[in-house]
Amino acid sequence: MKVSIKSVSTLALLILAMPVAAVAAGKLTLGFAQLGAESEWRSAETDSIKKEAPAAGITLKFSDAQQKQENQIKAIRAYIAQKVDVIAFAPVVETGWDTVLGEAKAAHIPVVLTDRSVDSKDKSLYATFIGSDFVEEGHRAGTWLVGYLTKQGITGDVDIVELQGTVGAAPAIDRQKGFKDIVAQHPNLKITRSQTGDFTRAKGKEVMEAFLKADPGIQVVFAHNDDMAIGAIQAIEEAGKKPGKDIILVSIDGVKGAFEAMVAGKLNCTVECNPLLGKQLMQACKDLKAGKTLPKWIVTKEGVFPAETAAAAFASRQY
Ligand code: AHR
Repeated sequence: MKVSIKSVSTLALLILAMPVAAVAAGKLTLGFAQLGAESEWRSAETDSIKKEAPAAGITLKFSDAQQKQENQIKAIRAYIAQKVDVIAFAPVVETGWDTVLGEAKAAHIPVVLTDRSVDSKDKSLYATFIGSDFVEEGHRAGTWLVGYLTKQGITGDVDIVELQGTVGAAPAIDRQKGFKDIVAQHPNLKITRSQTGDFTRAKGKEVMEAFLKADPGIQVVFAHNDDMAIGAIQAIEEAGKKPGKDIILVSIDGVKGAFEAMVAGKLNCTVECNPLLGKQLMQACKDLKAGKTLPKWIVTKEGVFPAETAAAAFASRQY
């Protein structure tokens, strides 16, 4: 094919006329395999990634696996075939990733685990994990509960029910572990029932309805996320009880819905889990592209918000 000097120079002029960000955007493509849209938290994380990618001059390819591991694996394989520069994903469950991560490694595409980690012996299969210490979040929920019960003068046996996150997911496994560690130090605390609500409001409500029917003496709900706690609040109200008063609720995430529930006196505490990982993720992509080695775990900093702090903190909440 003959290419005229005129067309080459026109192309050169076009490239020169492109804004710097647009030129840079063509240089780095991130394939992000999101696990789903199961919670307010997840939507905030997705928004953060979609906002920060263009701001960093990064082209984002985004997919939603609807809480199914096979869909996430398909998406990762598609990104490998498309030869993206970096792949990131929030693994829906902890195990079963070694094969696909091995394929990414063989294709020399670095992988960033975002918010949830994987249970894999071979740490070389991913470049870094950006996210929270879920065990610590469980500890914080338990520690807050112990302090609250002490303040209320409750020293007898306490009947606690647990709404677990998605079975096999890192935050469900680790938050349960962290909370149980604290409960084990206090013989009067008993987790009497524990079932998955899959991190959703609808299932949180459904499971809580069943718990309430089976056990009218429930004193505390520990929910692995705010959405399930909000579902549980609805179930408690429909059962004619007062959430936050008749039944103490502590959950994890710190989303706006939880703050609204705390201001209304229906939720007693939320332990923060920060979903605004977009900026850190884009920086990690740039660093990897530049050949830098990242720490294996970039830990997110988070706080604890008991109900009495909710009104003051609400205005500054970003998600
Ligand atoms: O991985 C983070 C957890 O996943 C959040 O706590 C929960 O709300 C989400 O669905």
